[in-house]
Amino acid sequence: MNFLTYLMHLAGSGAIAYYSASQIRDLKTRPNVLAGFQLAESGSVPFLSALSDRAVAEGDTWLAEKLAKHALDETRHGQIFAHALKQLNKQVIDFKSQPETTSTSKSKQQRSPFFVAYFEGYSAEQLKPAAIDWDVFMASTYILELDASKDFTRMANVLPDHEPTSRNLKLGMLSIAQDETGHAAYLYEAMMRRMSASQVQQLVDEWRTRKVNAMLAMISGILQRNGQTRSLVQDGPPSENNSELMVA
Ligand SMILES: [Fe+2]
Ligand SMILES: [Fe+2]
Repeated sequence: MNFLTYLMHLAGSGAIAYYSASQIRDLKTRPNVLAGFQLAESGSVPFLSALSDRAVAEGDTWLAEKLAKHALDETRHGQIFAHALKQLNKQVIDFKSQPETTSTSKSKQQRSPFFVAYFEGYSAEQLKPAAIDWDVFMASTYILELDASKDFTRMANVLPDHEPTSRNLKLGMLSIAQDETGHAAYLYEAMMRRMSASQVQQLVDEWRTRKVNAMLAMISGILQRNGQTRSLVQDGPPSENNSELMVA
């Protein structure tokens, strides 16, 4: 990574950390942040499970087991955020029940500027579990897991201890952060099993640079929307019964 990229990485991480910390501390914006995390964490499970099956088919049981455990962890992370939302009497919007007319604009919104920039040069087809290049998967996910671990720790630490709901969330997020460190570690090991240390370094540098560019794209997106974010939550059911969350 060159020095300019490094400086931009620090600036970008700082800006996002400040933004997400203020969003999660504020009870008005917290539900939307939690819903975004729930969707992201739960959304990764089918992808990781499919990759685990592919690793089995390719005879790599070491990787298959790591991926299966990774999928289980992400399932648990999704549940932690769903539970935190429920404690605020909120739940993720059931996108399936939204009117048809919004579906075209929805698919546009789902392509976040972050992911478009991060995976620039790769088609959606190339990023599917059956097709994705293992090196691309490992390096791109390694960077995201490594940073997620630090981001979750930072966010957990701005939550107050004196109020039980926030305190629960704080403990949940700290345990998530630990899992993310473990994910980054096995992905790094997986790369080291496949290539030389200098090749790993080169690949990691490439994806660090991509992440910096993607963060800048995301920050400019946030600024363009004037801080307005799309709502991902709706009020939860009034009673404790029948409150199974719908994950889109
Ligand atoms: Fe996670
Ligand atoms: Fe993870």
